[in-house]
Formats: sequence, C-alpha cells, structure tokens
Amino acid sequence: MMNWDTVFAERTSEMKRSSVREILKLTAKPEVISFAGGLPAPELFPVERIKQATDTVLSERGREVLQYSTSEGMPELRQFIAKRLSKGKMKISADNILITSGSQQGIDMIARVLLNERDRVIVENPTYVGMLTSWKPYHLHFLPVPTDNDGMQVDGIQPILKDQPKLIYSIPTFQNPQGTSLTLERRKQLAKTLVDHNLLFVEDDPYGELRYSGETLPTVLQTEAEYRGATDVDGNVIYCGTFSKVLTPGLRIAWVAAAFPVIDKLVQAKQATDLHTSTLNQFISYEVARDEAFLNNHIEALRDLYRERRDLMLATMDEHFPDEVSWTRPEGGLFLMVTMPQHLDASDILVKALEQNVAFVPCGEFFIGSMGHNTFRLNFSNARPERIVEGIKRLGAVLKAAI
Ligand SMILES: Cc1ncc(COP(=O)(O)O)c(C=O)c1O
Repeated sequence: MMNWDTVFAERTSEMKRSSVREILKLTAKPEVISFAGGLPAPELFPVERIKQATDTVLSERGREVLQYSTSEGMPELRQFIAKRLSKGKMKISADNILITSGSQQGIDMIARVLLNERDRVIVENPTYVGMLTSWKPYHLHFLPVPTDNDGMQVDGIQPILKDQPKLIYSIPTFQNPQGTSLTLERRKQLAKTLVDHNLLFVEDDPYGELRYSGETLPTVLQTEAEYRGATDVDGNVIYCGTFSKVLTPGLRIAWVAAAFPVIDKLVQAKQATDLHTSTLNQFISYEVARDEAFLNNHIEALRDLYRERRDLMLATMDEHFPDEVSWTRPEGGLFLMVTMPQHLDASDILVKALEQNVAFVPCGEFFIGSMGHNTFRLNFSNARPERIVEGIKRLGAVLKAAI
C-alpha cells in the first residue's frame, strides 16, 4: 500500500481545502440561511440571454466555438474588455489583455510567473483568502499593512520597503472580506508610492462595478497611469477583472490587463496550465456582453437589488445586534465584516449559529498573523429579503447569548 503521507511534494504542506468552501457544503440544506458564500443572486442570472447567445454562436460559428483557440483569448472579447477598461484618458490595447478561466486563475498564474520561494509580498490585512490559498505554497513572507474604513493604510507601505517586497496584492474596491474601499486620496498616494519606488501592484477588482452609494472611484490602474502622465497600462499595475459578479461565475470568464511583457509571460503560463480558456464560454460571454446597453442595464438591476439587500441587512443589524459588536458599512460589493469583542471566537459562534440554521464565514484565515479570530464575514447579495431579516435576527440572538 502506498503511504500517501510521504508522496506529495513539499509545497503541498501549505495547501489545504478552503474552509469557506467546506462551510458552503454545510449550507446546502434548504433550511440553512447562508450569508457564507460570495454568491450572486441566482434570480438575476440572465438565463434567457445566455441561452439565446449559446444558440446564436453554435448556429453561426459552431465549428469555431467548439475548436481549440488562442491562449491569449478570443480577439473580439479582448478588444471589448480593452475598450471597457479604457476609462478617462486611458487607451488600452487588446494586446494588453489576457482572458483567463476566472480571475482566480489570473491570480494563481501571477504568482507562478512573478514570485520566487520566500519572496516578500505586501497585502492589506485582512485580504482575500483565495489569493492566500494560491500563493502560500511558494512559502512567501506576507507583510501585512493595516486597514481601516478608508482601505489599506498606504502610509504603512513606506516603512516596509526596506524588506524589499516583490509586489503588493490588494482589492482596492469593495474589498473581500470587509467591503471597504481605498479612498481617492489614498489611491493617489499609492500611485505615487508605486511609481516612485518602482513597485509592482496586483489590483484584484471583481466588485468595482457593484457600487450602491457614494462616488465612483478610478481604478488604481487608472490612477497610476495618470500619475505617470500616461494613457497606457505599461506601468506597474497588473489588473484582474471578471464577469463572475456582473454576469455569471459559472462561465468562468475573466481577464488580466497589464504591460505587454507581463501578458506575454502569463500567456506562457496559461499554455502550460490549460492551453486556453473555454472557447465556447468566451464566445457566449462576448455575445451577451457586446450588447453594452443590455450589460449596463443588467449591472444596474444588480445594483438595485444588492443595494436593497445591503440596506435591509444593515438596518436589521442595527436593530438586533448587541452594542458590543461593530461592522463595516460598505458602499458596494457583496460583503460586510463584523467584529466581536476579543474574547469571542467566530468559529465557536458559527457552531452556535449553525444550530439555528444560519451560516457565515469566520475571517481568521483572511488575516496575516494571529488577528481576526473575533471577526466574521456576511454576504448580503444571495439571500432573499425575508431570509436576511430572519437570519440576522437569529444571529443577533446568538451574539447576545454569547456576550
Ligand atoms: C477578491 C476576489 N478575487 C478573485 C475572486 C475569484 O473570482 P473569479 O470567479 O473570477 O475566479 C473572488 C471571488 O469571490 C474574490 O472575492
């Protein structure tokens, strides 16, 4: 019999199943009110549109859409993304776009092509656990920068530059897990730091288009180009975008926008990983998205629905959560983060919440270091209004009992 404990590569010692995905399994029962996943509202998936688009591309270009295709991605889709990202003065070329199988793949390949074992990487604290899962096997030193309601404390970057970080990874807009965003002032300060110190910055932006209140902010990609006085993406920002939250996550269509040498190297990694992103899914996504009036209306509908759910969750929390607990009040995205008193552990509270058929994600694993055991993430996009109210009431009772 093979001794499986001894056969796996050393790097797998840092791999484990995502605890978020394990919690999601527990929430499959219909009686469980889940605030755990980062799931879009399924009732707004454009099922009919996707059905029509599938029919169209199969009827009109069937032999092409079922064939292998280029590693860079479908040219029309790359062109479309380049144009959509060309906000303000930016003029992005399709050559600067790589289509990926979800932005998770982009994140994974960025590490593969840029990071050596034991490199130092700056992250906001807490950060996206899916990035940590992907990057930890490189045995990196994560250098955490604290966050507040205005996002990453950009002042905290300068003092750790002496440790010669390789890059910064961050979700500047409607962060996962906190829902908070980097202010315009900090974006400008960050752009200056990136350019002055020639630092690479990975901007992970799945939620940027899901704003429900407040002023639209430019991406860091844009802010950095402006600081350079440029209109291109040949600077220090590697930008990851996705259709997952504005169309559907099931098709797994996403993109990386970056300077051409980065795209070129990522294409080589992509060839090794999966040759190319699903041809059919790229064609379907393009067929749906190229009708920009439809896409923009669809995003508007998502904003309206999620705004309502966010407001309802916050109002119910205001009424039913104990005073000892605090939480973020996001202007967009899918999540907010709750902070309990230090003596409480979110994993223990989750056990009690599950007894009441309510689920959430404890945030300990989103933090670098031993912080965050007393925090948890709530998703407000997926549950229907009556379930939000009922779930938050039950959670409030669990928290009151624990306190
Ligand atoms: C911050 C962040 N990055 C990346 C992803 C992965 O998204 P995709 O479905 O495009 O792989 C998620 C998904 O929840 C996310 O929250």
